[in-house]
Amino acid sequence: MLRQSDVLSTLMRRKPAHSLVQDLYCAPGVFQVDMEHVWYREWLFAIPSCEIPKPGNYIVHEVGAYSVVIVRGTDGDIRAFHNSCRHRGSVLCKSKKGSNPKLVCPYHQWTYELDGRLLWARDMGPDFDASKHGLKPVHCVDLSGLVYICLAETAPPIADFAAETARYLAPHDLVNSKVAFESTIIEKGNWKLVWENNRECYHCSGNHPSLCRTFPEDPRAIGNNDSGELGGLQRDHTARCEAVGAASAYLEGPHGDWRFVRTPLLDAAESYTMTGKVAVTKPNSTLPFRDAGALLKFKYPGCWNHFLSDHAIVFRVTPIGPMETEVSTKWLVHKDAVEGVDYDLTRLTEVWLATNDEDREVVENNQRGILSPAYEPGPYSPTHEGGNIQFVDWYAAHLIRSITGGPSVVAAE
Ligand code: FES
Ligand SMILES: [Fe+2]
Repeated sequence: MLRQSDVLSTLMRRKPAHSLVQDLYCAPGVFQVDMEHVWYREWLFAIPSCEIPKPGNYIVHEVGAYSVVIVRGTDGDIRAFHNSCRHRGSVLCKSKKGSNPKLVCPYHQWTYELDGRLLWARDMGPDFDASKHGLKPVHCVDLSGLVYICLAETAPPIADFAAETARYLAPHDLVNSKVAFESTIIEKGNWKLVWENNRECYHCSGNHPSLCRTFPEDPRAIGNNDSGELGGLQRDHTARCEAVGAASAYLEGPHGDWRFVRTPLLDAAESYTMTGKVAVTKPNSTLPFRDAGALLKFKYPGCWNHFLSDHAIVFRVTPIGPMETEVSTKWLVHKDAVEGVDYDLTRLTEVWLATNDEDREVVENNQRGILSPAYEPGPYSPTHEGGNIQFVDWYAAHLIRSITGGPSVVAAE
């Protein structure tokens, strides 16, 4: 089984601007290293906060070996705890989602307050100290209506990302939104292949007939070209949106783990629909025009999002195994929008349901082909796959830094 040191030397030897070697996409040892050094250390998008609007509402999110309960307290704050009772470790919340005034363990009914304090434990003797048996917290932040968790003992800094999220998402009212629809699919591919497929639109014209009606394939429009050159359309769009106070210019985090850019849709389309018109007539943004394009955001390793003038779509990536990844998609609309009146569910979801399925297929084909002994890393297109180069550079640099405990090492020149 590949160990940490093997992964490190493989990364140090990788060919710049090329896809990764086979092991990095399928070996169980690499998967373990990825979990420990990426998924158990980084901030991960978990849920939109509007999914648990009331005190006591909770959602369980599983990441590798961890199960986490995300719950809204009586004070309105959202917190996260390990879903493991402090008595003998039973899971506390058995279902994926629900609502409870307290968190009660199903085994011996130890009862916890929504802020994690142990309130009640029967017959534990006079020396038992309830204050030492509260639920173990998981780092949790609510950034403009998007809840992120971090499983690490010490979470990496998030202040800069939080500030930029607040700035870019200001016109998008996710707090007063609701989940109109959600879909969860399992892609039989390594999580990095899911990301690589997401970070380029080289495959779009050949695979996404519905999406291509509105989404620009031009890498300059979607910030996937390393040249820094922006198309004229993108430049005008940024100026138009920023003039009404909507942050739109391309912005990438200093470590490459996040990015924002508001891109215009094709032919002044308004939303991701088959007609290009809005899908929701009661919008969840304050943008003064409908053709505001899509604010594209990603935060490695857990999510990419699209924020439109009429709705938002949040995608969450969760690795299940070396060659299995869950992709969850949630469509957020204004909380008062009424299905059948303000939006039609088919019209709202059909483009991305089809696109997700098309993406699943190309990712699975990619994984199968990589399993061939004949596979060798191939070159990324400098025109279309700048996003892939950025992603694998981030992955390699992050892993090398995390494994060696040293300063950032950029593996590719
Ligand atoms: S394991 Fe939870 S109350 Fe016993
Ligand atoms: Fe795609």
